[in-house]
Amino acid sequence: MDSLTRTLPASWFCSAPLYELERRAVFLKSWHFLGPVTRFQNRSEAIRYEIAQVTIIVENKAPESSGINIDGIVVYAEEKGREIKSHLTPSGLVFATLSLEAPSFEEYFAGLEELTNKVDFTKLPHRRSISYEGNFNWKTMIDGYQECLHCQYTHPSFSKFYPPTFYSVTNHQTFSQHIADPSKPNDGLFLYFFPICTLNVSTLTRLWRTGGGMSSFRTLPTDKPGVSRMEFDYYHSGSEEEFKEYYEFVRQVALEDFELCEKAQQNLERGVYGEGILNPRKENGVVFYQRRVRECVYEQFEKEKKAREKEDLVKGKVGMVGVDEGGAKVVEVM
Ligand SMILES: [Fe+2]
Repeated sequence: MDSLTRTLPASWFCSAPLYELERRAVFLKSWHFLGPVTRFQNRSEAIRYEIAQVTIIVENKAPESSGINIDGIVVYAEEKGREIKSHLTPSGLVFATLSLEAPSFEEYFAGLEELTNKVDFTKLPHRRSISYEGNFNWKTMIDGYQECLHCQYTHPSFSKFYPPTFYSVTNHQTFSQHIADPSKPNDGLFLYFFPICTLNVSTLTRLWRTGGGMSSFRTLPTDKPGVSRMEFDYYHSGSEEEFKEYYEFVRQVALEDFELCEKAQQNLERGVYGEGILNPRKENGVVFYQRRVRECVYEQFEKEKKAREKEDLVKGKVGMVGVDEGGAKVVEVM
């Protein structure tokens, strides 16, 4: 049992000081997926993303034209003086950071473009975006996205087309690829970008009359650890009726996940669940991302501790967040 990975403890899903540490350790040092270029074609609409309390704006400053414009896309932080990085992949995906603390795109997402370059993301037009809050920690939602053990029970309609028996997740440095059925490599491209973004290209011809659709979601942390904001973007090239068919199918799956996450969070907050062991094969996606969260948080904690010691701060004046050795508890040290 020692070789098996344990989950992050429940306290990590419920603690405000721990979230503040995650914000500095994970969010400000990561790259975040904003959308394909088709999201940014309305010249009069500045698209705002509030990620971990930092607002990023994307605009298309090119003159109005009938085709898809890529060159006019600009990404910047709302806050004056905040410098960020942005990147456009050759296939048409826009990514950004929240600070200059993140490494280069190539270093952070090594190997990602080999996968994304197989799809032309300039083709599917943006159809709809929706956003709402949920009573769960951002990791509660990512836990669910990163495994499919819950699929058969929670998603009966989805499971008919994607039998969970074959479901597998391949982890890379900062992203995971989900493969619903290895014998059908043309069913789509399903990606999780650490920490909170996903991209789901579904070309399942058994299910869709047209070429399928694409969705992406972000699970955005708020300053309350038990509340997140879900933001979804939907892309489709079919008629209104065909889009509706796709939309209703994917919304059903999203609502089923939403309900599951709110219930799981209640259990985490009530102390029903402390921590457990992850299945090394069926939950390897959860093992991967939780390990990265843990490593980033520990590293940040040590770095800040050293900095505090160096500054020789007067004890009692400054609040600190502590993570005990097993990572089991979050304690506030005054
Ligand atoms: Fe699910």
